[in-house]
Amino acid sequence: MSGHWFSDARIVESWRANAEPWTSAVRGNQIESRALVTNSAIIDAVLSRSPGSALDIGCGEGWLVRALAAYGIRAVGVDVVPSLIERARQAGGGEFMVASYEDLAAGEILKKADVAVANFSLIGRESVENLLRSVSDLLNPAGAFILQTLHPVTACGDQPYEDGWRPGSWAGFSEAFSDPAPWYFRTVESWTRLLIESRLAVVETREPLHPKTGLPASLILIATAS
Ligand SMILES: C[S@@+](CC[C@H](N)C(=O)[O-])C[C@H]1O[C@@H](n2cnc3c(N)ncnc32)[C@H](O)[C@@H]1O
Repeated sequence: MSGHWFSDARIVESWRANAEPWTSAVRGNQIESRALVTNSAIIDAVLSRSPGSALDIGCGEGWLVRALAAYGIRAVGVDVVPSLIERARQAGGGEFMVASYEDLAAGEILKKADVAVANFSLIGRESVENLLRSVSDLLNPAGAFILQTLHPVTACGDQPYEDGWRPGSWAGFSEAFSDPAPWYFRTVESWTRLLIESRLAVVETREPLHPKTGLPASLILIATAS
């Protein structure tokens, strides 16, 4: 597989195609690791910064914005897929805008927040690197950037533990899903380096454990503008 199949553009095409089953899966609590571990882990990480406002980057159908609203946090969600933003608006809980990471990196969304959070949404290569380079511009003074991603060690599978594109898979999801998005695998070292190169200082690392396996379900990095 070459070129087009492993690209940031393919990722966006795939999320456009899967907006409906994705919304059902999230709202129906069909993703076990989310229900058991990672949803509460990202909420706890955001709350640990005591923010008044949050920017949810790649918000999908908007569950995290709604969850944060329950704690009195004013949140704005942005996502590149219009039908996900439409669904998010219908459910309410905050403000939602259609925007790509490229738009955010270009400074087109002037929504500074106390916390910028990306929950399993930093999937690509250049789009993610360009976004992170400018993410500190989206933070209020003393603000923090928080990301949650698949834990690189447990998500690596049989492949070499090194950065690179990986084919997508909807294994474990319903048959309504199609056209899985490729993703750019990054090691823990590489995630940390990327944040440091993006003028961010990693202040905390969290590895929430899956209760059934005892292994990390995800990696959470909390960083401040340095
Ligand atoms: C796995 S979903 C996570 C959604 C949400 N954060 C959640 O926790 O349910 C990944 C999201 O990233 C968004 N995304 C991927 N690449 C993007 C880009 N370049 N610009 C904006 N959003 C993007 C997708 O549209 C999708 O909604």
